[in-house]
Amino acid sequence: MLLDGKTIIVTGGNSGIGEAIVIAAAREGANIVIDYVAHGEVTDQIIAKIEAAGGKAVGVDADVSTADGIHSMVKTAVDTYGRLDVIVNNAGIENRTGILDTTEEEFEKIMAVNLKSAFFGTQFAAKQFITQKTPGLVINMSSVHEDWPMPGNIAYCVSKGGTRMLTRTAGVELGPHGIRVVNVAPGAVDTPINAETVADPAKLKMLDDSIPVGKLAQPEDIAEMVVFLASGKASYMTATTVFIDGGIMQGSVGL
Ligand code: BGC
Repeated sequence: MLLDGKTIIVTGGNSGIGEAIVIAAAREGANIVIDYVAHGEVTDQIIAKIEAAGGKAVGVDADVSTADGIHSMVKTAVDTYGRLDVIVNNAGIENRTGILDTTEEEFEKIMAVNLKSAFFGTQFAAKQFITQKTPGLVINMSSVHEDWPMPGNIAYCVSKGGTRMLTRTAGVELGPHGIRVVNVAPGAVDTPINAETVADPAKLKMLDDSIPVGKLAQPEDIAEMVVFLASGKASYMTATTVFIDGGIMQGSVGL
């Protein structure tokens, strides 16, 4: 199995892309830590499913928009499995407002959940890797919008732009410690964050038509890349981004 015995934390691990990562990593033999802030019952169901298949998983109810939450999450990983190998800073939200109507509260919440969590998730995981004297991997779940504007979703874009530079700078700083930092940047994925678009046939058609491969990604499409990176097979990769977007960023009407 690709991840045999590796301990992996996935923040926001009980829904959307996070859940798909958890399932795929467990199937490959990883020891799983599912971080979540809501729907503990869903977390329990995911854990039961993993355990029934002979895998290992633990849930931690921790708000990763605070350093305390991240501390308790990393501590749970180490207390439960004795070590940490990979952290996937996946938790994320968006609110779909533009520059003229985003409130201070909305801005701060998005920055805290999307960017601050990845910043301190990277820091706490890196400190643990250094203490263990092992190499380690940080995967930050970014978005095509780390580089590509989405008008009407500006705070989200700004947070993902920050994640882009976090990964590049932390990757450079942590390279000498044998720690790698990589962004995974999905395009449009069929997850709760896109539920409104997916539920509206006209909007969904518009979105599908804008994607060169003609359809949204499924969460599993993103999870497979995360498992590949976590396996260490791409071990020369750091301080950069892997885009998985069906070509959406390069799409053009050709006029
Ligand atoms: C956003 C979605 C958007 C997609 C493609 C994602 O990062 O969360 O709202 O549909 O990018 O633009």
